[in-house]
Amino acid sequence: MQTMQQQTEAGARYARCVEISKRVRWEIDRDVFRGRDLDRSKKFLPDGLSKVSELEFLGQAEKRLLSQIQGRTYANIFGLVERYIAAKVLELSRDHWLGDQTALEALVRFSDEELKHQELFRRLESMTAPAMPAGYTFVPRPNDVASAVLSKCTWAVLGLTCCIELFTQAHYRQSIEPDGELSELWKDVFRFHWKEESQHAILDELEWQRESAKLGSEQLDQGVDDLIALVGAVDGIVQLQAAADSEYFLRVSGRSFSQAEADRIRKTMLSAYRWQYIASGAQDERFLKILGGLVTADQMKRIGAALATITT
Ligand SMILES: [Fe+2]
Ligand SMILES: [Fe+2]
Repeated sequence: MQTMQQQTEAGARYARCVEISKRVRWEIDRDVFRGRDLDRSKKFLPDGLSKVSELEFLGQAEKRLLSQIQGRTYANIFGLVERYIAAKVLELSRDHWLGDQTALEALVRFSDEELKHQELFRRLESMTAPAMPAGYTFVPRPNDVASAVLSKCTWAVLGLTCCIELFTQAHYRQSIEPDGELSELWKDVFRFHWKEESQHAILDELEWQRESAKLGSEQLDQGVDDLIALVGAVDGIVQLQAAADSEYFLRVSGRSFSQAEADRIRKTMLSAYRWQYIASGAQDERFLKILGGLVTADQMKRIGAALATITT
């Protein structure tokens, strides 16, 4: 159970999220796209995310193509994760229906924003598709992934969601590193997404703490197992998509690579995706602090050991 003081503090944080959500609200066309098209002469993802600078044998145009392929996958992955997040947040809002109306408003705004973000990322995908060589495939199916994630317990789903929403903050920070080669439109995608995700990350924390307070020690232990399974499932998706994107790059790059170079491209793509979709959240200081406040030292070790097999 949460104490009165914890509930009061949480109430103030829900209210602050509503206030900021109203203030930073943006529209896809008016604020993000502003009539612009994608500039194929620019990179879509910053080097800190794409890791293309580690592939020193690639020319500038090849590095740019690799970052554009990753950008397309980024749009598709977010379109996918935001589907399950919106559904979960709507489900969580039920607990507030007849309770704290500010918390309810915060979660309604949260799910509305995620629906808008899904549309933003779908629009980016539909702008990117005609501009790139044929043959790209996005392997996971959003509804299959959403159903698989939502079959796990709420505690674990909130843990994964908190991790995702904190890594969008880290991605924004990487997108503002000075780099004249990065697409202005993509920079704006990172910036506008971050503006609303900042509130989502706080709401995840509040809901995750609220859920934790309801659980007994066995249920919490089950939650930890489910969270480890979810991270493993994300890694499964990441491995499939990294393989598909590497083969696509090798086919459309317009030149041949040695076996060793092709293997390095595959390896770097996988480590970039593991960084983007798992480690940039799971290793985030704030994520570790929130998680550490909810689990025992042994459970923390168990999660750390599972992550080490993925991120090292
Ligand atoms: Fe989002
Ligand atoms: Fe979000």
